[in-house]
Order: sequence, then C-alpha cells, then structure tokens
Amino acid sequence: MSRTTRCRVCNGTVTEFFDFRRQPLSDCFLAPGSAVEKEFFFRLAIGVCAECSMVQLMEEVPRENMFHEDYPYHSSGSAYMRAHFEQFAKRLISTELTGDSPFFVEIGCNDGIMLRALADAGVPSLGVDPSGVADLAAAKGLRVRKSFFEDATAQEILEADGPADVIYAANTLCHIPYIGSVLSGVTKLLAPGGVFVFEDPYLGDIVERTSFDQIYDEHFFLFSARSVRFMAARHGLELVDVERLPVHGGEVRYTLAHRGARQPSPAVAELLAEEERRKISDLPTLEKFGENVQKICKDLTTLLLDLKSSGKRVVGYGATAKSSVVTNFCGIGPELVEFVSDITPSKQGRLTPGVHIPVRPHEEFSAAYPDYALLFAWNHAEEIMEKEQEFRAAGGKWIMYVPDVRVV
Ligand code: TYD
Ligand code: ZN
Repeated sequence: MSRTTRCRVCNGTVTEFFDFRRQPLSDCFLAPGSAVEKEFFFRLAIGVCAECSMVQLMEEVPRENMFHEDYPYHSSGSAYMRAHFEQFAKRLISTELTGDSPFFVEIGCNDGIMLRALADAGVPSLGVDPSGVADLAAAKGLRVRKSFFEDATAQEILEADGPADVIYAANTLCHIPYIGSVLSGVTKLLAPGGVFVFEDPYLGDIVERTSFDQIYDEHFFLFSARSVRFMAARHGLELVDVERLPVHGGEVRYTLAHRGARQPSPAVAELLAEEERRKISDLPTLEKFGENVQKICKDLTTLLLDLKSSGKRVVGYGATAKSSVVTNFCGIGPELVEFVSDITPSKQGRLTPGVHIPVRPHEEFSAAYPDYALLFAWNHAEEIMEKEQEFRAAGGKWIMYVPDVRVV
C-alpha cells in the first residue's frame, strides 16, 4: 500500500501521517431493508504535501457517490448556524454588495440560508449545488443551478449573468479534490474588484483539539493560511484576509481577491506567523496528532464498555457526518450506543454508516432519557446544552471526546 501520493494542488509528494483504514461514506445513512453488501467503503488516510503544505486525503471518493439526490445534510438544522450565516450575509450586503447591480454566487448553497438572506435584501444571487437538498432552496423561490461547480460552470454563469462581486462557499470548498478547476472558474467569474470568500474547518484547530472526526470522505482538504495562500497564487489570486470562526469546532474564513487588487489585512501575516511558530503542518506535529487520536479512541471505548457492564444506557446525540469516523474507527456499534438522536427528517429511521446504529427522532431521546448522551454534535455543544437542561436535571450526563474523553 502506497504511503505517498501526488498533491491535488501542486503535484508535489504527499506523505501519509494517519490511516483510519476502511471507512464507509459519512453521510450515507442506510434505509431500512437496503442492501448492506452494497455499502461503499474506501481507505480513509491523510497526508501532507512536502511542497505546498496542503493536508489532504490519500484517496478520493468519486463525487457522485457523495453529493447526490439522497444527500441528507441540512444547514438550517442549527439555529446558531442560521444566525451565523444571516449575520455574515448582512455584512456582505453592507460592504461588498453595495454597487448598482451586485451579483452573489454561492458554491454549495444547501437549503439556502445565505441565498434567502440575500434575496430578502434584494441582491440578485445564484446558488450552485449538485445535491438533492438544493431542491429545498429552489422550493423557497431561490435561484439554484443544480450542478457541481467547476471551470466550465463558471464560464457559463459569466456568460449568462456577468461577473460576480462575491463568490462564497461555506463548508464546501474543502470537499472538492478537483480544486484547481474550481479556482480557475472563480478567477474567470470574479469581478475585478470582487472577493471569493470561503470558510472551512481549520487545520490549526483540528491539530490543537485533536478533532480527528473532521477527517472524513467529504473533507478532502484541511486548509491553513499557508496552504490556501500557496494554492491561490497558482491561479492569480491572493489571500487578503483571514478570520477565525468559532463554528464547527474552529474554522477560518478566507478572503481571496485578484492579485494586486487589494491590500492584504495584517491578520494574514499574523496567522501565517502563528502557523509557522506552531508548526501545524510539520510531519512530527501531525504524527503526534495521530498518537492523540489513538488515545481518544482507546479512552472512549473503555468508557463505553465500562458503562455497558454497569448497565447504563448510552444514546448518541447528533447523527453527524463526523461521528462516522469515530464509530467506525473505534468500533462503536449498537451494542454500545442504543440509538442516535437526530432532528433531521432525512436521517431518521435509517442506520448510521458502517456500524449501523439506528437514527431516531429527538422525541425518543426526550421520552425516556438515557443515563449518558454521547455528544457526536460537539461542535453545537453550546446550543444543545442550552436546549437540553431537562436531560441534565433528570440526572443525564454528557460524554465528550474532543479534545479528550470526559464526562460532564
Ligand atoms: P453537523 O455537526 O453540523 O455537521 P456534520 O454532519 O458535517 O458533522 O451536524 C449536526 C447534526 O446534528 C445534524 O444531523 C443535525 C443534528 N442536530 C440535532 O439533532 N440537534 C441539534 O440540536 C443540533 C444543533 C443538531
Ligand atoms: Zn502540494
């Protein structure tokens, strides 16, 4: 088995630093009675490019296997995330979209939170998303092009609608292995004074918190300021701003502009310096990260086995894509976790990928509280803890595993 591969950004040598072995697709929830033998598996392993420092998966899953009609993730599921996007839409409207005929394009618009906010402010917008969930945005009267975004797509949009003042992508750009085609499309479609803004899980936070569950089929890249700056430069783009975000366990919002069009903010140099000081993309740092992952898995399974042998009930909270790697890598199935509670209708009544834990509506969680809830949606902890005070009051405890295993 090869422990090196070619970088999807610069063709340099990518050296593997961690192997999660055989994994299913993290958002592929099995319908009852579906053919288990058809479940798709691949080798989930991660490495770093020696040339450009981009952290990336060693193997790529065909995009049609992940983003299709049955894609179950709904961005609107979290009230905090809705507020996060609405606030940012307001900021864009008052800063970047103030011209006479502004145009906003979103790559990966999902169920349309951003598009809705822009439509409400009268800004012409277009969402591009290949998944079935984009129908929800279209049903709200929002303009959606149901396709993958790449170079040719950008060209067609440019011809039909003219240049975009803002191109935006949240939790989408890191999903795209063929990123060169996306960036060359962005370079074409972006107005001379426009910005390409994207936010994704940040390598610096993932390393610091050992949030290894951010590594799965859909998260092909783990970005840093350093790797993004390098990648942008290959397409005549420049990293002009970075902003750390508290959402999803730590993200960075990157702003790219055409080279020379804008003065980079001091935050860019500051984050680059911090990354260098912390050596976040150096192999020894990443190998240490791998050791931490092993420890978390061992501690978590030990805890769950102890709870089982003392007759406690444990239920999972949030059938996240992230939880797939936790359950499958650590070997946590329905014998340890009775079911996973989730508010998303498209996941309920199905089985989680690989280990096949049943997903049930939240009503089943609140009807008979378990002794412990394993918080798979730990990135929404604040919002969830606030909602679940009754579970607490009934004596319920939370199990966390990022940055380490603890009961709270
Ligand atoms: P999320 O962590 O946002 O993303 P990913 O799937 O990419 O890891 O997923 C959150 C999941 O948790 C989603 O399926 C909705 C569910 N959820 C609840 O069940 N209850 C809640 O209160 C919240 C905020 C989320
Ligand atoms: Zn590279």
